[in-house]
This record gives sequence, structure tokens and C-alpha cells, in this order.
Amino acid sequence: MKPVLILLAKAAIAAPAHTDMRSIAENAASMLPEWQVLWAFSEQGKPTLRALLDANAQAPHIRVVPLSLPSEPAAVNAISRTVQRWAKGRTGSAPVIDVAPPLSAAMPELIATLVRAVSMPPARAVPATPLPNDAAQVPDHRTRVLVCSGGPCMNAGAGDLWAHLRARQEDEKLRHRAPGMMSCRTSCLGPCALAPVLQVWPEGTYYGGITQDQLDRIIDGHVIGGIPVVELAYAPGGPKQRLGD
Ligand code: FES
Repeated sequence: MKPVLILLAKAAIAAPAHTDMRSIAENAASMLPEWQVLWAFSEQGKPTLRALLDANAQAPHIRVVPLSLPSEPAAVNAISRTVQRWAKGRTGSAPVIDVAPPLSAAMPELIATLVRAVSMPPARAVPATPLPNDAAQVPDHRTRVLVCSGGPCMNAGAGDLWAHLRARQEDEKLRHRAPGMMSCRTSCLGPCALAPVLQVWPEGTYYGGITQDQLDRIIDGHVIGGIPVVELAYAPGGPKQRLGD
């Protein structure tokens, strides 16, 4: 099995972004035939980094190449923590995984190449992207999931939870399936000691210290089933809250 190169972009919502990533990966693969080149998204879009790590757990070596600019130390650290959490949750042998230097290290050469390239024809006006069919409707969603994206929560894995939540939302059409849900990322929700934190409305239930498996329980039980998962919830007020075991 070849070593695996994962090109890690930030987010892709529309099809052109996926097409672009496919083309980048194919071109990279033609220049690096000794690697199997794949791509993933760290915030939104499929596959997620964890999904590709799962799918390639038997590879001898996985290298993650972050593709976002500017290079934020927090984002690079978040990738390392995602990899560490994934490796910790595995039993048996795991591939050697490393993270390539930030994209900014290669930018001067890349910019020089672009500047010297044959200039492109002036851009033509492109038609506006059509709005989705339901864009003129006030949605009838009963449930809203807020995923905290403050610093402590991001350090504790909120980015991975967000990617997983959005993947399930899309796969299972949760926006349009009763009772209908929306999700969004927020700044600090308050109880940073419980990071990573998410909150599910209309009850406003706080969940803390959530893992991906626990997020699945919350989606199944609370978001779809309508019943808060009390074992994972933290009540407001009262004494200082600490994460349970
Ligand atoms: S950063 Fe998430 S609750 Fe404060």
C-alpha cells in the first residue's frame, strides 16, 4: 500500500470547490506517483480528516498538507490534535502520521510562478450563483445546534465535532427531516471549563466534554428524537461545573 498524502482544505460547500480539489489532487498525484493523493476538509465538507484517517488506517505513512492561508498557528495545532485524538482512539498498529509545513513556506516560489505565467484573459462577468430553492422561505426548524468555536473549545476538538455534525446533517438531510435542524458555529458560549461545548435549542441544553461518539448520541436522541441526553448535559447555574468522568 502506498503512503497517503492528504491535502487538507478548509471548507467546501458547492460542487466547484470539490471539482477544484479533485483537479489539484490529480495533478499532485501525477507529480508524486509514489504517493496516493487524497483530499479532505477541516471545517465543512466531506470527507473530513478523521474519515480519511479511518479509511487509510492500514497505510504505512500518512502526511497531512494544510492548504489554507494565512497559516494560523491555532489551525496547525488543531490538525495535530485531531491526529493525536484519532491515534489515541485506535487499538493495534497505526500509521506514521506527520503534518507538512504550512503553505506559506512555499508561497514565494508559487507567487513568482504565477506572476511569470502567461496572463489570463480578463475575467468575464459570471452569472450570480442561483439561490437554493428554499432561500425565499422562513425555515420551520425546531432544533438548532450551536457548536462553540472559541479558543478553548477549538483546542479541545470542536472543529472535528463541527465537521462531523455537518457531515451527518448533509448525509441524513437533517435540515428537512422532522423536526428540522439548523447548526451554526458561535464564539464562546460561556462554560469554557467544559470544552468542547455545544448547546441544543429549543431547550438550550448545554453539553460539555463531547466526543464524536457522544455527539452521535446527541444527534440521535436530542436532535432527531427530541429528548435531551441528560447523562451528557450540564444544568445552568448552581455550583462551579466540572467535566464528568
Ligand atoms: S470557548 Fe467554548 S465555552 Fe468558552
